[in-house]
Amino acid sequence: MTSEKERRQFLLQTAAAAGVLLTGSVLAADAPEVAPAATGAVEDLMCEHGVLRRALLVYRAYAQRLRVEPAGSVLAEPLQKTAQLMRTFVENYHERKLEEGLLFPVLRRLPGPIATYPATLTAQHNRGREITDYVLASTKTSRIGATQAQALTRALETFSLMYEQHAAREDTVVFPAWKAALAGERSGKDRLAEMAEQFAAIERAEFGQHGFADAVTTIADIERSLGISDLAQFTAPPPPQST
Ligand SMILES: [Fe+2]
Ligand SMILES: [Fe+2]
Repeated sequence: MTSEKERRQFLLQTAAAAGVLLTGSVLAADAPEVAPAATGAVEDLMCEHGVLRRALLVYRAYAQRLRVEPAGSVLAEPLQKTAQLMRTFVENYHERKLEEGLLFPVLRRLPGPIATYPATLTAQHNRGREITDYVLASTKTSRIGATQAQALTRALETFSLMYEQHAAREDTVVFPAWKAALAGERSGKDRLAEMAEQFAAIERAEFGQHGFADAVTTIADIERSLGISDLAQFTAPPPPQST
């Protein structure tokens, strides 16, 4: 059985155990979250960006709380867990093993401006790691210290803006260019399938069988602890009536 088949089988088994269908939406706050069945290398990368984006939303929620809640009152643990997820799943796996290890070398060999992207993206990965070190160091006590709140808020906000831009460019420019470069090789279709297998093997080596599903569960648990897990609460209010 190929690893992709194993991955699909795991996801189907998870869905069956949770009593939900993979084709159905899972939206309620307390409903189990089930990872979608990824089918290709680029889809894997974009699903991983989904975990990153949910971590950024936690950072933004924290920045807001640190601005409005009494000094020294904000719990540190959910932010510590989010920074740990950034470290293990995003920085050490998605960025170092996949993007820096497998995608950026291909992009550097391409003609035109796309070859300049890896330098900026790698500099942002490195700055992200510095900020994650800082967030981890700032969240070791049970409450975030009053003297740390202002600098930590700024770090969370600048980190979030950097990564919103970063992931959006990767999704719309970098990943399509990488996919096109592989497809342009003589056996391009096979190369993409090979990459999906390689990604799955790296993910298993890093996390065991359930890396992505466990990352989704972790961020969902953090959201639940902060009261931001119900998607419906983020539906925008209606616009003002025009006069
Ligand atoms: Fe990246
Ligand atoms: Fe990325």
